[in-house]
Order: sequence, then structure tokens, then C-alpha cells
Amino acid sequence: MAKPLFIFTITVCILFNVTVSPQSPTLTAAHTELIKYGFPVGLLPTNILSYNLNHTSGDFVVKLGDTCRITLPPDNYRATYSKTITGKIVENRIAEVDGIGVRAFFRWWGITGIRSNGQDLTFEVGYITKSFPSKNFDQSPECEGQRSSS
Ligand SMILES: *[C@@H]1O[C@H](CO)[C@@H](O)[C@H](O)[C@H]1NC(C)=O
Repeated sequence: MAKPLFIFTITVCILFNVTVSPQSPTLTAAHTELIKYGFPVGLLPTNILSYNLNHTSGDFVVKLGDTCRITLPPDNYRATYSKTITGKIVENRIAEVDGIGVRAFFRWWGITGIRSNGQDLTFEVGYITKSFPSKNFDQSPECEGQRSSS
């Protein structure tokens, strides 16, 4: 009697694994933490070495294996991540960000804050803000040039 259930369970496990495997090897505890605070995983690239979060103050430090360049769809904004990214995270808001830059209007700008309302992400550069649909950040981006250099 137990056998059909056993086979069913195995089948479900296999199906589940197949579904999640393209994304799961790259997701780290830091990505999981983003989700808990209301942010999509795509805010952080895949090459995370370590992260540290003070749950009381929200202060965090994310260390990457190397600096990272990515291109954000759909407008092809170029962004760079420093090896060390710091900030302060609370539900739906990341403040005092240091280590993430975006290229716009012919120069680089340091992102200072990021807000989430579930639908959209709003990036702040000082008092200037720009919003994008959160679904654009569903996948953790792979750093450009990383594959070919390793
Ligand atoms: C975490 O933050 C709180 C509040 O700022 C501070 O009192 C505490 O010392 C911090 N803990 C660590 C491990 O840094």
C-alpha cells in the first residue's frame, strides 16, 4: 500500500528539482534574506562570497568574489557592484547603500537607497528616484565576463 505513495513522492521531488535547479545553485542566504525583507533576488548578483546582517540595526555587509558588471533590462542600464556592498535593510527599504553604481546621463551614479512596494522597485540616487517593475529582478544576474575569465 505504501509503494504508490512512495513513487508519487519521488516523482514530485524529481519534478520539483527540475523546476528549481536552474536558479537554486546560485541563490545564497543573502538572496533568501532579500525575499524576507520584501525584495526580489535580482538585486544581488550570483557571485556572493559572504554576507552579514545585524537583525537589530539592519546593517548589512555583502562581499562578492569580485567586482561585478551587469546590464539591467529592459532599458539596458549598466550597473556595477563593488566587492563590498553595505547598507541598512528594513522591511521594503534599503538605505545608506554603498557599493552599487548605475550608468545614466553619461556618468556613474551611486545608488543610495532602494524601496519596494511589492509591484515596483524604486532606486534612489540622492533625491532622484526611478522605478522599475519588480519582476525585472526575478533572477539573480550573472556578472558579465565572469564565465569567460574563469
Ligand atoms: C547590532 O546593532 C545593534 C543596534 O545598533 C547594536 O547595539 C549591536 O551591537 C549590533 N550587533 C553587532 C553584532 O554588531
